[in-house]
Amino acid sequence: MTGRPAAWVAAFVVGAGTLAFAQKVIGPEEFDRAMKTVGAALEAAEESLGTASYVEAKTPLALSRQVLASTRPEWVALGQPDAVRLNREAVAALDALDKALSAATVDADFVTAALGDVNRACDACHAVHREGDAQTGYRIRSSPR
Ligand code: HEC
Repeated sequence: MTGRPAAWVAAFVVGAGTLAFAQKVIGPEEFDRAMKTVGAALEAAEESLGTASYVEAKTPLALSRQVLASTRPEWVALGQPDAVRLNREAVAALDALDKALSAATVDADFVTAALGDVNRACDACHAVHREGDAQTGYRIRSSPR
């Protein structure tokens, strides 16, 4: 547990000004910070899962779940019911992964499948509602595909 956990803690601290006490994320800048936190936290969780550190994975996973859920009001404000649905599905996938990790005896294959569902749920929204790239930066797509 070197490096990575620090990365998601740092990402969370950067976002903490708006996120620590806010239950709702509204506005493109807050949304961007929230997504960076979700991404960094999920990466940290994946790293722990890679070494079968299931208990360790749960904290960043819970963070990504909370912050992702907090972005839902943005989609309500933008009048994008499809994105609200995709947000719900991704949060549900994160919950299912957490449940898989909470089993008395953790089933590694089940965890891998649940993680795959999480990544697919993230991608499903990105494919439709995200534009830009790592170089120019990501934005909410103004006219969803
Ligand atoms: C309902 C839609 C939706 C879901 C679900 C979603 N995202 Fe995003 N995500 C976006 C949009 C839109 C952007 C681009 C906006 C931005 O970054 O400002 C984005 C951007 C990102 C970025 C890039 C941030 C940056 O600017 O560098 C990361 C990383 C990310 N998401 C991770 C995730 C992960 C991980 C999940 C799943 C656990 C997830 N997202 C689920 C809509 C979504």
